[in-house]
Amino acid sequence: MTEGVVTASYIVSAIFFILSLSGLSHPETSRRGNLFGIIGMIIAITATVMSAQVTAYSILIVTMLSAAVVGTLVAKKVQMTEMPELVAILHSFVGMAAVLIGFASFLEGTDYTGAEKVIHDVEIYLGVLIGAVTFTGSVVAFGKLKGVIDGKPFLIPGRHWFNLVLGLVSLVILVKFVSSANISDGLILLLIMTLIAFTFGVHMVMAIGGADMPVVVSMLNSYSGWAAAATGFMLSNDLLIVTGALVGSSGAILSYIMCKAMNRKFLHVIAGGFGTSGSTGSKGFTGEAHEISAVETAEIFKQSQSIIFVPGYGMAVAQAQAVVQQITKKLKEQRKKVRFAIHPVAGRMPGHMNVLLAEARVPYDIVLEMDEINEEFTNTDVVVVIGANDIVNPSAQTEPESPIAGMPVLEVWNSGTVVVLKRSLASGYAGVDNPLFFGDNTRMLFGDAKESLDELLKNL
Ligand code: TAP
Repeated sequence: MTEGVVTASYIVSAIFFILSLSGLSHPETSRRGNLFGIIGMIIAITATVMSAQVTAYSILIVTMLSAAVVGTLVAKKVQMTEMPELVAILHSFVGMAAVLIGFASFLEGTDYTGAEKVIHDVEIYLGVLIGAVTFTGSVVAFGKLKGVIDGKPFLIPGRHWFNLVLGLVSLVILVKFVSSANISDGLILLLIMTLIAFTFGVHMVMAIGGADMPVVVSMLNSYSGWAAAATGFMLSNDLLIVTGALVGSSGAILSYIMCKAMNRKFLHVIAGGFGTSGSTGSKGFTGEAHEISAVETAEIFKQSQSIIFVPGYGMAVAQAQAVVQQITKKLKEQRKKVRFAIHPVAGRMPGHMNVLLAEARVPYDIVLEMDEINEEFTNTDVVVVIGANDIVNPSAQTEPESPIAGMPVLEVWNSGTVVVLKRSLASGYAGVDNPLFFGDNTRMLFGDAKESLDELLKNL
């Protein structure tokens, strides 16, 4: 394939990637967005494989085929609830790829001299640096999301100074690396910086508490984009630069939106642990929780005109979305006003609840975002909280010492009656107790959300 055709193909795939991002921004167009992304990627891979730069076909075919088999098997096996872990580990691959390509580019050497050589060396250095931070950061994020590493923030004394020293040492090494006289000196400096960046990645994510994890995953998504862009500079591949910049900037924008939704300062999260107050416990609430049965809940429904469902992580665990849809249908047949309130960080990944509800074919027009519906609870007869906890915790507003203090929450307690479906009074992801469960107008329907809702449906 001539260089001109390759460049033209790259422009076409870049357009598909932009269309893909725009499609993915809304549930109704997301399938189309996904398709555009797939088409863009097929064009990109085909053009790259057919370009004059690629000659080692036997290695390429073996690695691509084995990776495709592993990728397909993993993607088929993964549960919806494990998606964030999968995303985190995939980011780590991008990070590691940037590190390896950086070392390969350095060892291969170039004919560049003067300013061109300096620029090329800086590209390699930054690519390896960002890649290494992304790699270990993503591995720790994977461990935290999987539960093999404790989700609580791990804060070492003087951690900000530690980060500052790591940053300054990396800068000094950069200057030495760029002016190093031979390959072996440069290689040692590159290796030292890689170790520092690995340490920084671990330290940064270890310092971040459970409630901030979604921001970390999308921030690492952004880092992986910048690592890919740096790799594009190293390999002089325009499409990698464009795609990396798209991923990097969209990840950064998503992180910013999520920070706003969780009342965390973006820069604080990036700096690693600044945003966490250090308080990891929560006030224990005692009192009497009022229990209710599915039959009694059905009675409340019969007397209600307006109902709002608030889905959370527990709905995903119980896989209760299909029965929720059936209940919604039944209630609508009875001419009741049914809506869904979606918190931006409900579940374990951005858009988690939207995906589940769309999968169960709940109409989009009754699924409302937090800002659109928070004022509506006062006019609502009954709110059904399905396996949600942190996102409906009033202590975010009333307990300044709480780890989730200041996080915007769905104000479900303002409605006539709140029915909470969960298995126990246990805390949610952030490990914070929830006074909502002891409210006068709260009724606890204990048990697996799907079983409770099946029972409820039978009695409607
Ligand atoms: P959580 O606060 O984690 O609460 C979920 C609740 O579901 C638990 O308290 C659990 O109580 C209940 N549950 C679990 N399995 C259940 C089942 N089979 N049936 C019924 N209930 C079940 O969830 P949330 O309210 O959706 O809030 C999300 C939290 O995750 C936030 O803290 C957020 O910051 C964090 N987070 C979000 C993301 C994104 S991007 N969405 C990513 C990572 C972390 P029982 O054990 O008593 O049943």
